[in-house]
Formats: sequence, structure tokens, C-alpha cells
Amino acid sequence: MQLRRMLILLVTGISAVSLSVAGCTNQQRDLEADAQTPATPTQFQETPKADVPYVPTSPEVVNAMLQLAQVTKNDVVYDLGSGDGRIPITAAQKYGVRRAVGVEINPELVQESKANAQNAGVSDRVTFQQQDLFQTNFDGATVVTLYLLPDVNLKLRPKLLQELKPGTRIVSHAFDMGEWKPKKTVQVQGTTLYLWVVPDQVPNNLLQ
Ligand SMILES: C[S@@+](CC[C@H](N)C(=O)[O-])C[C@H]1O[C@@H](n2cnc3c(N)ncnc32)[C@H](O)[C@@H]1O
Repeated sequence: MQLRRMLILLVTGISAVSLSVAGCTNQQRDLEADAQTPATPTQFQETPKADVPYVPTSPEVVNAMLQLAQVTKNDVVYDLGSGDGRIPITAAQKYGVRRAVGVEINPELVQESKANAQNAGVSDRVTFQQQDLFQTNFDGATVVTLYLLPDVNLKLRPKLLQELKPGTRIVSHAFDMGEWKPKKTVQVQGTTLYLWVVPDQVPNNLLQ
């Protein structure tokens, strides 16, 4: 009897240990399988890499940029790297532009911009695209605004000169375009603003 009880206990114990070992092994397999399965967009939304950190332009400088470009109600304004949307929103709200577009890589800033446009009552004329600015389609653009970095301006220069219509005005906050000399500069709040106008004939040296 004693021996029978010992045998039952022994068999039960072995089974319990086996189950728990099997459970661990299955869990481990699941984890390994997860690690090897490429993440789907719904599991992890990868944040696209920004070429420039987010630093907003002050309202005074936003106005000075739009004034330097002599923005009117006939214009279509694109802000490349639009942050919280303040430049396109101001262009619509204060300058009455036909249309304004913000191109921004950071999806959270795009959401914030859309809410800001809604609150400002201009979402019928202001749109935001979550996109790499190097992929921008400049449909209808007559003014382009930039607050990027010197190397990003230089990398962008051939695209601007090849894809924008002659006569399009480009305004940059703080940074120049290397060999492409500005038509005009102004000083505002200790920073320089640059204005260029896309020429009919683009010199080859500016396309590199
Ligand atoms: C210096 S902030 C300027 C924001 C806004 N234009 C302003 O003047 O207030 C630059 C913005 O560019 C965005 N950005 C950086 N790299 C980008 C890229 N490759 N494509 C689109 N947006 C980009 C950043 O997320 C940031 O919001």
C-alpha cells in the first residue's frame, strides 16, 4: 500500500514537472518565433527619420517670411517640414492664400497641424501631408517656405530648381543655398531671412 502511494506520487510529480517544462519550452518557442517574424505596421509604427529637429519659427518671423515672399490671396504656399503647421495656417488666415500645404515627416506633428488648422477655421484651404519633403509634388506651388538646415537646403536645391515653375518664390529662415545667391535678405529678430526666385534658365552649377 505504502509502495503504491509512493508510485502514484512519483508518477504525478514527474507529470507535473514534464508539463511545466513543456509549457516553458512552448513559451520560449513562441517568443523566438515572434522575434523572427518581421513586425507588421500595426505592431510597431516606425518613426521616419527627420533630417531636421523640430524648432518652431516665432510668429513675428513667420509674418516676415510671408511678407518677404509678398504672399497674396492668389498664392499657393508650401512649407517643407511644416512642424505644427503655423506657416501654412498663417498664410491662409492672415494672407488669405488660395491654398497652403504643409509637408511634415513626423505623424504626431501632422495630427497637431490638422487640429490647429481646424481650430483656426482654415482646414478647407490648408492641408498637411505626412511625407518626406524630398518626395514633395509641388502641384500649383507659387511660394515655398523652409526652415531646415544648410546641408538639407543644398540637397533640396536641385529639386526646387527643376520642379518649381519659373517665378516661384522661395523663402528660407536662417539658412542660405550655397552658390545660389538670394535676390533679397532681411534681418528679423537677430536672424536672416533669404528670398530667391526660380529663374527661367537654371545655371548647371546650381543643379548639383
Ligand atoms: C526647424 S522645424 C520647422 C517647422 C516649421 N516649418 C516652422 O518654421 O515653425 C523643421 C521641421 O521639419 C521636419 N522634417 C525634418 N526632416 C523632414 C523630412 N525629411 N521631411 C519632412 N519633414 C521633415 C521636422 O519634423 C520639423 O518639424
